[in-house]
Parts: sequence; C-alpha cells; structure tokens
Amino acid sequence: MRLYAALLLALAMLADHAHAEDAVSRGSYLAVLGDCAGCHTKAHGPAFSGGLPFQAQFGTVYSTNITPDRETGIGTWTADEFYRAVHEGVAANGHHLYPALPYVYFSRLTRGDTDDLFAFLHSLKPVRQAPTPNKLIFPFNIRAGLIFWNWLYLPKAPPKIDTAKPAEWKRGEYIVNGLGHCGACHTPKDILFGDITSKPLAGGVVGNWYAADLTGNMRTGLGKWSAGDIVHFLEAGRNQYATAAGTMEEKITSSTSHMTPADLHAIATYLKSLPQRKAVQFQNPRPEQMERGQGVYRAHCEECHAADGEPTGAGARGRYPNLAGDTLVMGGDPTTVLRIILTGGTAPPAPGKPAIKPMPDFAKLNDGMIADVATYIRNAWGNSAPVVGATRVHWLRRALIH
Ligand code: HEC
Ligand code: HEC
Ligand code: HEC
Repeated sequence: MRLYAALLLALAMLADHAHAEDAVSRGSYLAVLGDCAGCHTKAHGPAFSGGLPFQAQFGTVYSTNITPDRETGIGTWTADEFYRAVHEGVAANGHHLYPALPYVYFSRLTRGDTDDLFAFLHSLKPVRQAPTPNKLIFPFNIRAGLIFWNWLYLPKAPPKIDTAKPAEWKRGEYIVNGLGHCGACHTPKDILFGDITSKPLAGGVVGNWYAADLTGNMRTGLGKWSAGDIVHFLEAGRNQYATAAGTMEEKITSSTSHMTPADLHAIATYLKSLPQRKAVQFQNPRPEQMERGQGVYRAHCEECHAADGEPTGAGARGRYPNLAGDTLVMGGDPTTVLRIILTGGTAPPAPGKPAIKPMPDFAKLNDGMIADVATYIRNAWGNSAPVVGATRVHWLRRALIH
C-alpha cells in the first residue's frame, strides 16, 4: 500500500513538473508575441535585464530588469503583483509605471497568460542589474500623475468581440490589439500621448518614426497588399511594397520573425479586415518643386533606386527598395521618409542574395533639397502624397542630429 502511495506521489510530481514546463514554454512564446525581450534588453546587455532607453519630448524612461534577481529584478514578486503590473501598470511596490510599458494593450492578457509569462521569466537566470534612473522633466517625473492618465486611456472593460467571427480573425485581433501592441506605434496619438481610439492603426508618429497606416487604404495603407504580402513582411522585413526600417525593423527582428506561420496569418487576416479610411484631400505639388526634386534624385538617388523608382534591372539594382507604389513613401506623414534620407539605413538581409550597399545619409543636402526630393519621390511614377516643406526637415534634423 505504502509503495502504491509513493508511486502515485512520484507520478503526481512528474505531472506537476510537466505542467510547469508547459507553462514555461507557453510563456516563452508569449514573450515573443509581446516583444518583452525587445524592450527589456539594451544593446549588448543580458536578455531581459532592462536598461533600454525610451525617449520622448518630456525625457527618457528606461526599461527595468525583469529577470528573477531578488534585489534588482522581479525575483520577490508574486504572480498577483506581476498580473497587476502588466495589466494596470502598477509595480509591486505600488508605484505607477509609465505607459512606455504598453499595459494599455497588455490589459487584454488573461490571467492564464500572465501566469505563464511569470513562470517563464522566473525560469530565467537571475541577472544583477540595477535599473537606470529615468530622466524626466516636471511634471512627468511624478508617477502619481499617471493616475489621471490611466483614467483617460486605460480601457475600463475589454472590447466586445463579435463571437461569430472566425477563430483566425479573433486570434489576429487579440495579437494586434493585445500582446502584439501594434497600435502603440501605428495608432495616432493625442497631445497627452494617448491613442486616438477613433482612428485605430491609421498611422502614428512615435520617437520620430512614422509607423504607417495599416488600414485598408489603397494608397497609404495595406489595401493593395495581400495577406501573403503582410506575412512576408513580418517574417522577412521586406516585400514588393516595403522594406522595414527603424523601430519596425527592430520589432521584426525581436518579435514577428519568431512568430508561428499560423499567428502571422492570423495577424494578416485581421489587418485585411480593417476598413479603408477616407483619404484626406491635398494639393498636388507645384511643377517647379517636382523639377528641383527630380534634379536631386538624379544626382543622388538614381544610382540605387533607378530612374523610374522601380529597380527591376539585373544584379544588385534589382534588390533596392521600390519607391514607386511604396505605401510608406506615400504615407500621410513624411517623418520616416525624411528620417531615412537624413540618417540613411540598412535593409534587412535577404537570405540567399548578395548583400546590397546600405543607404548613406544625406544630411549634407540642405533642408530645401531634402524637402524637394521627398516631395518628388512621393509624387513621381504614379505616387501621390502631400507636399513636404523645408521647415519640416529643419525640425526633424534638429531632433535627430546634434
Ligand atoms: C515597448 C517597450 C516594452 C515592451 C514591449 C515591454 N515592456 Fe515591460 N517595461 C517597459 C518600460 C519602459 C518599463 C519601465 C516603466 C517605468 O519605469 O515606469 C517596463 C516595466 C515592466 C515591468 C515592471 C518592472 C519593475 O521592476 O517595476 C514589468 C513586470 C514588465 N515591464 C514586464 C513586461 C513583460 C512581461 C513584457 C512582455 C509581455 C513587457 N514588459 C514588454 C517597456 C516595455
Ligand atoms: C515600436 C513601434 C512599432 C510597433 C510596436 C509596430 N510597428 Fe509596424 N511599423 C513601425 C514603423 C516605424 C514602420 C514604418 C517603417 C517600415 O515600413 O518599416 C512600420 C511599418 C509596418 C508595416 C509596413 C507598412 C507599410 O506600408 O510600409 C507593417 C505591415 C507593420 N508595420 C505591421 C506591424 C504589426 C502587425 C505590428 C504588431 C505586431 C507592428 N507593426 C508593430 C513601427 C512599429
Ligand atoms: C547606395 C544606395 C542608395 C542610395 C544612393 C540611396 N538609397 Fe535609398 N535606400 C537604399 C537602401 C539599401 C534602402 C533600405 C534601407 C531601409 O529601408 O532602412 C533604402 C531605402 C530608402 C527609402 C525607404 C523605402 C522603404 O520602403 O522603407 C527611401 C524613401 C529612400 N531610400 C529614398 C532615397 C533617396 C531620396 C535617395 C537620394 C537622396 C536615396 N534613397 C539614395 C539604398 C540607397
């Protein structure tokens, strides 16, 4: 009898162990979907140990150490405290967390999800790494101010989801609007940096990058993209319409390229279901500006992007981004285009193809020339987008180049 009981106990312990292992592996994939490592790892720093800066107009917030170190990480936290932190933005010691941690989106997580994430984070090797102090100006340095912010922006109840929708759509909706927090960059922001919820995913500017319109708009959004094009972009960072840059390139490296094909399809299915937003009316550029822009383009850009914006020729030329029909180039807001011209960029590597030259920076061109060439590429070859003025370039240059 005693032997039997011991055997049962051993079996129960094994089952428990297997259960814990399941939780850890589920949690590790949830961390991919939520890009926890992408934000909680600084350059060359140990994974999840924090210290990555987030710059905004009002200062810099640093991500914290979420390894299970007992003094500098979340080693002494309980699963309840962890749930409250990712759900409501309140740390174990009761202080409010800045919404740089996208808890507005993570409030969609179920208790099961946060428990699995917690199990995963607690299975990591503890790293001793004291948090970097934030550098914020008054009144943003007062965390209690976030009580008001949360009252405005933290959803009071989960959204009503049409239960009749297909499972794939629901999964996509949950990743995009929950763990994947796509709107954190892609939804336009108001003056308090909260989401303008009446324009979900219609394109937003965060940290001097314009995150493109993901709605069904034919010109500036994903209207022309097939679900396969979206999957390909999230997997490889490029497709016939776009080349990933900036914060999206980082997001793809640390998160979407590690998602399962089924989840990428679910995201694409959801994004393709977003309605087309009404296009904004704007004036065509003056012919003189187009002519000046074309002059700059011929002298500095044609070498890689080709005369017709569509490098289809043999050899290296065939692999530079197409500027004709590029949804980002035609975006309602030119910030990302100007930023790439001012600071250059590297394309994500295309497996099996020889490397291409990175895009050099063109900071040496003056504000007027950059405004002209940006206006030109946004309106040549059948493209169409609002004119860019030199003041715009001036302010972005001031923000980026010191
Ligand atoms: C977009 C960047 C970003 C992402 C993505 C992100 N975090 Fe954070 N997180 C932060 C920042 C910044 C802070 C610090 C906020 C503060 O100090 O007020 C933080 C703080 C936290 C804290 C509070 C820790 C403490 O010591 O107070 C926890 C817990 C946390 N994050 C967990 C997660 C988990 C789990 C994920 C993935 C599901 C995640 N974060 C994804 C940026 C991010
Ligand atoms: C940290 C900010 C950030 C987050 C979070 C983010 N994106 Fe982006 N995204 C950008 C930026 C910036 C661009 C524009 C640069 C580029 O095209 O790579 C972009 C571009 C894109 C594009 C290409 C659009 C075009 O017209 O060129 C797609 C598709 C996209 N994102 C999908 C997503 C999805 C899906 C998610 C959530 C899983 C997501 N993004 C989350 C910043 C972000
Ligand atoms: C030496 C080759 C080279 C030259 C010259 C060059 N580019 Fe690029 N360009 C690239 C590469 C490579 C990328 C991909 C980099 C990225 O997306 O970050 C790129 C990306 C871009 C993009 C973003 C496209 C997208 O979908 O993300 C724009 C806009 C752009 N270039 C405009 C210009 C303009 C305007 C000029 C001239 C002032 C120019 N380029 C000159 C190589 C070049």
